Amino acid sequence: GSTLQAAAAETNRYFGTAMAGHYFNNSGTMTITNREFNMITAENEMKMDATEPSQNQFSYAAGDQIVNWARQNGKQVRGHALAWHSQQPGWMQNMSGTTLRNAMLNHVTKVATYYKGKIYAWDVVNEAYADGSSGGRRDSNLQRTGNDWIEAAFRAARAADPQAKLCYNDYNTDNWSHAKTQGVYNMVRDFKARGVPIDCVGFQAHFNSGNPVPSNYHTTLGNFAALGVDVQITELDIEGSGTSQAEQFRGIVQACLSVARCTGITVWGVKDSDSWRASGTPLLFDGSGNKKAAYTYTLNALNAG
Ligand code: G3I
Repeated sequence: GSTLQAAAAETNRYFGTAMAGHYFNNSGTMTITNREFNMITAENEMKMDATEPSQNQFSYAAGDQIVNWARQNGKQVRGHALAWHSQQPGWMQNMSGTTLRNAMLNHVTKVATYYKGKIYAWDVVNEAYADGSSGGRRDSNLQRTGNDWIEAAFRAARAADPQAKLCYNDYNTDNWSHAKTQGVYNMVRDFKARGVPIDCVGFQAHFNSGNPVPSNYHTTLGNFAALGVDVQITELDIEGSGTSQAEQFRGIVQACLSVARCTGITVWGVKDSDSWRASGTPLLFDGSGNKKAAYTYTLNALNAG
């Protein structure tokens, strides 16, 4: 294949990107997005603060712009994210207890119902595990509603949109030996054993010198897949430049291709200048939209699969 999406499709995988509302103002970015990618994640527009700015008053215009463009151009959509400790609307941030639990479940139900039939996979719960060596849950207002908040969110999402794949999504879960990776793995194993509806695990894959691409990534992806879930790289970006950066992108692609249930890769933006890492160059296209070495290594690795 001569594009990322075509090359990924040769092994029945997708290649996606995050896109934001401001992409529509840049025709060069839109041309690249349409040509190279066939899975779209809204970078911010479908999060809790964007979709429910006032309690039980929903706002879908910004999400719809992205979802409708994707569908009109033959692309699938990854929904991001139904429940998260971060980017909560102001009215939710100081809630607690049953009030918060019910507000969260109402959000999951209403948003998943609104987008029913249009979403390939939802990040139902995002970033619920703690960094560091505990392997346990992150403290948050949602966690303090009870340890079962994650499974409650997944059950509500399944009831609202039975066709969407339901994913747990997190970062720094790439290295198999990390406690956080083990914590998430144990949760997924428990969910599968008890019949909690979960279909996939997203690995955000934000890499930098403090969190390098691990050499055992294929082991991590393979072990999760062996639990009976799909795995996906959901927010890939890698700090750096040149051949060294390109080789790391290649390693990610090779890790995914080595696992049958790794169904796709999404990068977290198109051009370096679009990245949430304001001063970095972690993506596949430079600020002018030129293909970087990282692009070429990624494309070649997909084609070699
Ligand atoms: O839109 C407002 C603008 O009106 C305002 O003037 C400006 C001032 O700060 O803020 C703008 O909102 C920013 C928004 O991005 C849109 O640019 C928020 O401050 C900023 O916090 C927000 O950052 C996003 C971040 O999530 C928030 O947690 C990044 O764009 C987005 O790339 C990032 O994405 C996350 C994933 O959702 C989850 N995994 C990690 C990943 C990277 O942090």
